[in-house]
Amino acid sequence: MSAIVLIFVCILLDKSVGENESTHSYHLSVLEKNTIICSATLITEKLAITIASCLHEKEINELFVLAGTRVLGVGGTKIKVDHVRRHDYFKPPRKSFDVTLIIIYSGVPISASIKPIKITSFGEDVELKPGQTANFTSWDPVKKTIKHVEMHKFGTLDCSWYRKENYTYDMACYGYEDEDGPCSNDAGGGLIINGRLVGIALSPLLCGKEHNPSLFVNIQYKVIYLYVEVNIRNMS
Ligand SMILES: *[C@@H]1O[C@H](CO)[C@@H](O)[C@H](O)[C@H]1NC(C)=O
Ligand SMILES: *[C@@H]1O[C@H](CO)[C@@H](O)[C@H](O)[C@H]1NC(C)=O
Ligand SMILES: *[C@@H]1O[C@H](CO)[C@@H](O)[C@H](O)[C@H]1NC(C)=O
Repeated sequence: MSAIVLIFVCILLDKSVGENESTHSYHLSVLEKNTIICSATLITEKLAITIASCLHEKEINELFVLAGTRVLGVGGTKIKVDHVRRHDYFKPPRKSFDVTLIIIYSGVPISASIKPIKITSFGEDVELKPGQTANFTSWDPVKKTIKHVEMHKFGTLDCSWYRKENYTYDMACYGYEDEDGPCSNDAGGGLIINGRLVGIALSPLLCGKEHNPSLFVNIQYKVIYLYVEVNIRNMS
């Protein structure tokens, strides 16, 4: 009996440490009071990046980020947002340049479970060609834990055809093979290639709809890359 219990416990433990704890340490949840309104990615100790439309017309005093948790609604460190600096070209309802930086002047407490991820270098490390795969950090809608979803790049024509809309150069289009795709809480979350942030998930994300590509803010697009880089430099 105890042997069976032990084996069971081992399986549970194995599952919980199976993925490296630090894998998702850059992932943040953005909170309005206590409600998750979108995701964000920590890019330096003081800066996180997300979509501007998530924070549009929100009261800054009610905004927080939740860092260092991999289980939805459990644990983590809640930190006050001091300032939001959105891209100058963001003009809703237009969908372009839907990107904003979240500023935490005192910085987040860096640890094994809270760590920034670097943004992609301009035009160098990764070529965003059709078929290129990327990892997206997403909440598992059933298990309520953080996981990777592997996505692959769609070409412009394919993407426009599936989405029945055109998209602009400041965006990149990625889809997934299975039914496990990103969902509403994941808007603003990071798309990662080789350990570098390349994209930010735009809304709406079509939860679990096979072959429905999603749009991402393209960090490699020059006007966006420079905006992020200048702010990183100014804040360091
Ligand atoms: C996770 O990865 C980090 C850095 O890549 C490493 O230092 C750490 O030992 C790893 N932890 C586990 C449990 O594998
Ligand atoms: C996309 O753009 C093309 C060329 O400007 C236009 O003909 C087409 O109708 C647009 N498609 C949609 C869905 O807006
Ligand atoms: C996606 O994540 C997996 C598991 O961590 C890793 O092996 C793979 O190289 C990543 N893919 C990319 C394109 O970064």
